[in-house]
Amino acid sequence: MKFAPISDRLTGLGAAKWAVHSESLRRAALGQSIIILSIGEPDLPPPAKVLDQAADSMRSGRTRYAAGQGEPEALLAIANHLSKRSGNPVTPEEVLYTAGTQNGLCTALFTLVEAGDEVLVPDPYYATYEGLVAASGATFVAVPTSPDNGFHVTASAIEAAITPRTKVLLLNNPSNPTGAVLSVQEIDAIGEVCERNDLWIICDEVYADMTFDGTFCSPFDRPHLRHRTLSVSSISKSHALPGFRAGWVACPAEVTPRLVLVAEAMLFGSQPFIEDALAVALNETHPEVERMRAAYKERAAVLVDAFADATSVSARLPEGGMFIMLDIRKTGLTGEEFAWRLLDEESVGTMPGESFGSGGAGHVRVALTVESDLLKEASLRIRRLADTCLAERK
Ligand SMILES: Cc1ncc(COP(=O)(O)O)c(C=O)c1O
Repeated sequence: MKFAPISDRLTGLGAAKWAVHSESLRRAALGQSIIILSIGEPDLPPPAKVLDQAADSMRSGRTRYAAGQGEPEALLAIANHLSKRSGNPVTPEEVLYTAGTQNGLCTALFTLVEAGDEVLVPDPYYATYEGLVAASGATFVAVPTSPDNGFHVTASAIEAAITPRTKVLLLNNPSNPTGAVLSVQEIDAIGEVCERNDLWIICDEVYADMTFDGTFCSPFDRPHLRHRTLSVSSISKSHALPGFRAGWVACPAEVTPRLVLVAEAMLFGSQPFIEDALAVALNETHPEVERMRAAYKERAAVLVDAFADATSVSARLPEGGMFIMLDIRKTGLTGEEFAWRLLDEESVGTMPGESFGSGGAGHVRVALTVESDLLKEASLRIRRLADTCLAERK
């Protein structure tokens, strides 16, 4: 039997990255007591009003096919949400409803790139990005960042990676796994490089509402960059509803019909009752959302404090998102080795930094998705192992 090259290109880009996580789940299912900090699944409850709306809409018959671009109420809610955030008006014509951020990113890439094109991605990067770019046929080009400045990608690093084939910069802001949040100045400097080299910017902003000091900036919010920016997000994280698969792409109005063509080829519309729920999520203020942001920030501080006087492991406060990177380079182990030993010897499941690209080497990523007390217990175990490894090294 013959298959199209897409599945060959995707082979090896999935399961291996998640091996420690999968093994953590397997051991937990066997009854072992494992602290699972390996996946970004929100643990706090979603807003009750949003759930009620989904149920009400479903019962009232909103179960038919939705419009390809999205239902008018959902598109308006997304446009208003983005207008409020940026202070610049966004219209429904500039929005595509998608089945979450992942689907939005896929739709955007399929619309903009093909084999022969290059997509620049700051490294470390979210674990599905290699697969997304490979699926599009384009070539993935990692742009190095450094732990020394909190993994903030610089305009000069991006510029150095550009070739005549570069077509897209795929930014993730706030970043998973690093927690880096780009400032207005950084966005403008990066945008200037993209202007000069005529690059599209696809910005994954799924953690935008979880910026800890509240100063989130998107290239889509910058009037001079908006014509080359596709801003992708969802309510998966902000409203703890990953299973709803409810998100969007905001883009220049002339791009929307192109995206709709690709979206209709993949899904041909989503679930109207979920779109109604997304409209309620974005149109109203929900205390649960602020509670979540505060909880992630507080939990990150628990870990930073726990390692403040450690010599074997350190952590920097993330600027947003729901993860923290632990620097275990002093132990002499790779992130992969440390994560496996942490699971085997201390029953804590984390993600090796290398699962997010070579830029994550010597780190492990911790998801802030358990209560502070359990995180404190995890931090004691992490520190004990890091100290042991350091002692073994000496
Ligand atoms: C950076 C990043 N982008 C996208 C996603 C997927 O988001 P969604 O559920 O909206 O598809 C995740 C989920 O962990 C993520 O961390």
